[in-house]
Amino acid sequence: MSTIAVVGAGKIGESLLSGLLHGGRGADELLFTERHPERSAELTARYGVAGVEVAEAAKRADVLVIAVKPQDIEPVLDELAPLVGPDTLVVSLCAGLPTSLYERRLAAGVPVVRVMPNTPMVVGEAMSAISAGSHATAEHLALVTELLSCVGQVIEVPETQQDAVTALSGSGPAYFFYLVEAMIDAGILLGLPRAVSEKLIIQSAVGAGKMLAETGEHPVILREAVTSPAGTTINAIRELEKHGVRAALLAAIEAARDRSEELGKAHE
Ligand SMILES: NC(=O)c1ccc[n+]([C@@H]2O[C@H](COP(=O)([O-])OP(=O)(O)OC[C@H]3O[C@@H](n4cnc5c(N)ncnc54)[C@H](OP(=O)(O)O)[C@@H]3O)[C@@H](O)[C@H]2O)c1
Repeated sequence: MSTIAVVGAGKIGESLLSGLLHGGRGADELLFTERHPERSAELTARYGVAGVEVAEAAKRADVLVIAVKPQDIEPVLDELAPLVGPDTLVVSLCAGLPTSLYERRLAAGVPVVRVMPNTPMVVGEAMSAISAGSHATAEHLALVTELLSCVGQVIEVPETQQDAVTALSGSGPAYFFYLVEAMIDAGILLGLPRAVSEKLIIQSAVGAGKMLAETGEHPVILREAVTSPAGTTINAIRELEKHGVRAALLAAIEAARDRSEELGKAHE
């Protein structure tokens, strides 16, 4: 039995705790740290998991999951540095922070695995990409894969690809929400009541997502099946192409990748 401590039980940290409990981990195998006592008490009441200080988490945990905002990492590293040794696996969920930052600031030989998750973790549908730092072994990666499988799917990538992953799946849900928001507005423009427009588009998004995940068909094939000659869809597609939506997505995701690189450089 290993003890897993989540440092920073905000949106992502809480989702992970919840997923680990659903996945069969006992509350006594889990710990979390939070800055505000009220938040800590609320989480303990909800999940039966103990809230502790960062120092205690560092002493008791076999796996330390770091889920604070990247800008809050410095004090956490200062606190962990004298307490964490090579027997503790550090799993960082922080956007843009390289494993080399932890390796530089913590004791020699501490294994670090970097993860880029995303918010669908809240509903057990996260996409998490994991990368090993220089002291993390295949066993460490297997353990992290097992833990994150409780809250969605896991893929291993070289750490050099993590900025691209951040731009694609880390921020990805926001692009889909943005698209859904715009399509609901289109329904309003066409005179539909907001509630009707929302229901039509959200279920269409869920259905399209399920088809992509379950049929294994390429998105082009699925789209062509809805695009009949001289039909309605091709008229819409022509407008999407005319307004450069594909190019806009390419540029947007490239800009997100650049920002992720910038955030990482702030800690070099
Ligand atoms: N949200 C996303 O879409 C997403 C996607 C991929 C990765 N991530 C990564 O996941 C991490 C967490 O993101 P989030 O959205 O869950 O942020 P969040 O909701 O702000 O959660 C961070 C939590 O950590 C707490 N915290 C900060 N410093 C602490 C300390 N020294 N000791 C104990 N607790 C501390 C914060 O408390 P306070 O309330 O006091 O600040 C907050 O509750 C980030 O590094 C982010 O890059 C997020």
